[in-house]
Amino acid sequence: CGIVGYIGRREATPVLIQGLKRLEYRGYDSFGIATVGSAIEVYKRTGRISDGEAGAVGLHGCIGIGHTRWATHGEPSDVNAHPHTDCAEKIAVVHNGVIENYSELKRQLEERGHTFRSETDTEVIAHLIEEQYDGDLLAAVKAILPKLIGSYAILAIAEDSQKIVAAREASPLVLGIGDAEVFAASDMTPLLEYTERVIYLEDGDIAEITPDRLEIYHGGERVERPIELISWCVEDTRKGGFTHYMLKEIYEQPQSFYETIRAGISERVRKMVMEADEITLVACGTSYHTALIFKYLAESLCSIPVRVEMGSEFKYFTPPLRGLVIAVSQSGETADTIAALKMAKARNCPTLAITNMQGSTVTRIADQTLLMRAGPEISVAATKSYIAQLAALMEIINVRCEGAFDDVLSHAHLAIEDVLLQEIKEAVDLCAKAEHIFFVGRGPFYPVSMEGALKMKEISYVHAEGYAAGELKHGPFALLTSETPVVAICTPCPTYGVMASNIKEMKARRAPIIAIGVFGDTELAEIVDIFIPIPKTHLLVQVLTASVVLQLLAYHTACALQRDVDKPRNLAKSVTVE
Ligand code: G6P
Repeated sequence: CGIVGYIGRREATPVLIQGLKRLEYRGYDSFGIATVGSAIEVYKRTGRISDGEAGAVGLHGCIGIGHTRWATHGEPSDVNAHPHTDCAEKIAVVHNGVIENYSELKRQLEERGHTFRSETDTEVIAHLIEEQYDGDLLAAVKAILPKLIGSYAILAIAEDSQKIVAAREASPLVLGIGDAEVFAASDMTPLLEYTERVIYLEDGDIAEITPDRLEIYHGGERVERPIELISWCVEDTRKGGFTHYMLKEIYEQPQSFYETIRAGISERVRKMVMEADEITLVACGTSYHTALIFKYLAESLCSIPVRVEMGSEFKYFTPPLRGLVIAVSQSGETADTIAALKMAKARNCPTLAITNMQGSTVTRIADQTLLMRAGPEISVAATKSYIAQLAALMEIINVRCEGAFDDVLSHAHLAIEDVLLQEIKEAVDLCAKAEHIFFVGRGPFYPVSMEGALKMKEISYVHAEGYAAGELKHGPFALLTSETPVVAICTPCPTYGVMASNIKEMKARRAPIIAIGVFGDTELAEIVDIFIPIPKTHLLVQVLTASVVLQLLAYHTACALQRDVDKPRNLAKSVTVE
């Protein structure tokens, strides 16, 4: 979910709606806003903001809060959409996170006479504030927070109170400081339009916000938090003539890779990497795939043992840990990755965050940060952040190998540019007709295949599986028919020969083969149904170019099937709940 708040001289509604659109990638089941003019007014709807925003124009006032939802407690519905109010509708609250003890709190509140409208965990917060509120909103919020177990970023307003009270515990919240106006949001993207000065709240912080006064409290004490400058600009968040953000972001990959390599690695990160005799990476989703690619490459190119763990598993089944722990997260806010990073810290391991989001939670927890330079990624499916993560991880390999890949990495963006123009129509036609697709590869191309399959299923809704090519015959062969395309990555590397044999075995089961190989490989081109050539380059670069081809395949298949490419159903870009 994403939350926004505004207090200042402008009408709040357009600022909130615009801000929610920027945060829509965090969830888009429903949205809502509340403003304080002469009274609290609330407008909330199921569905996309662009479909329902017209109904919000009647809300007036220069103070307001808003929310875009990714349902956790209660189905997507008008009534479950935020903001939530108390019985008297004099207090309104938006919340990102999960209140784990909400059913107990709800039962107690009901016993005390409160009536609930929604099925959400958030509504208890509004009712709890109502019980404490006597005109001092800050005091009321402070009083109820100890009752909440779980995670939250909360913004609260009250009818007769000209302020916003914000609180954060394990869910992100950033404040944008303007000229006699203050903005609040789950991340910095809604703020880019108005200010470059931001304050990242820490866990346990409570802020009282008026247009020209901001006071932050922590553990009962008044605290100062530094104002930081954001490096992104609002132009980076525009679609720029592309049909979809995803296509724009795919096309921005040469730059994302190049900029991340160019930014290099700080001395402190370099030292950390050099001192490690073992590396554990924790990550989720696409970031988990880049971590797996790193494992194959780092173990073979610089002989360092690497372990990769999913954030969601690590927390409950923590393996014995030694050496450097790296959290890989585009958003820096994935709850499972954060939980894993915290556990690594608790075990006194040196920790490094690789993220695209300056100031995000992982950067606050880890000892050091390696910032990727992808710029804002809006489409839910990760593309340029994946490439920038690979840039950061390949830079780590390069450091361990004393600069052996300087030349390869500084030219890799040119090969990425080349594949953007690759013709893949025939392959798209085949995939768009399929019900199931296998993606196979060996070594680093196995996780590349997993990522290809993930991209395909998340945006085209065609069922796809990424498999290690050699494993297919241990079960999935039973599923191969003339209707089941297999996308196979087969480039010159030690596994080329065995990969070619696997392709022949799959052909013998009548599966149509789409092969990604290098230019000039006529032998491979002859045995497969569709051949997609990529430039003949170093293995590190082949990983990048093959990945880009798979992104394009998923993208164009999704377009052919008329899917909602940038906002695929049921998903959110940043999953801030465990
Ligand atoms: C969500 C997104 C994925 C992303 C994953 C991890 O599932 O839809 O695209 O890879 O979260 O996100 P992170 O921000 O930690 O890289």
